[in-house]
Amino acid sequence: MTEPGYFDDLYARTADPWGLSTSAYEARKYALTVAALPHERYQRCFEPGCAIGVLTALLATRCDELVAWDGAPRALEQARARVDEPGVAFALGRVPASWPRGRFDLVVVSELLYFLGEADRAGVRDKACQSLLPDGHLVAVHWRHAFDEASTDGDAAHAELDATPGLTNVLHAVETDFRLDVWARE
Ligand SMILES: C[S@@+](CC[C@H](N)C(=O)[O-])C[C@H]1O[C@@H](n2cnc3c(N)ncnc32)[C@H](O)[C@@H]1O
Repeated sequence: MTEPGYFDDLYARTADPWGLSTSAYEARKYALTVAALPHERYQRCFEPGCAIGVLTALLATRCDELVAWDGAPRALEQARARVDEPGVAFALGRVPASWPRGRFDLVVVSELLYFLGEADRAGVRDKACQSLLPDGHLVAVHWRHAFDEASTDGDAAHAELDATPGLTNVLHAVETDFRLDVWARE
């Protein structure tokens, strides 16, 4: 689990700490993530941990409304500058302590869960399930390898989602470096 302030310090040192806007690996993974969405259009999506908004920009092309949150103000400044679409609402917010009101037909959790401790990962699973409409989709995509700041790895975080009552896996793609899953809310 990352310490409070970890991401603020990271963004203070580097505008794009993971090369989200420049890496070919990230661009391909984002394209696969969006291609994996089972529905052509979604009415209302929640993307917690949106970082600098690179995936947000792609999701916005498929969603009427998109609520995108991050816990780091510097990341959100960049995200707002990158994505200036009327349906996209960025806000500062840390999940699962906070969660947006209302229901969603899409929740996208990309490269976030292993930064959360066990209880917070459980909180995200609970709140995602509670806020997903029937037949809504939960998408998760995570790096599979261990790294210093991670509380767990991507495979384990996805296994927790797989074991969550009310979610049925409808897409499962595993590569050497990342795992991409889609679950439907029963
Ligand atoms: C690796 S980046 C995620 C990138 C983005 N989802 C993507 O795939 O392009 C992790 C982001 O999660 C944010 N974050 C970490 N913990 C969070 C939390 N509890 N709530 C909201 N955002 C959080 C960090 O500030 C950081 O911007």
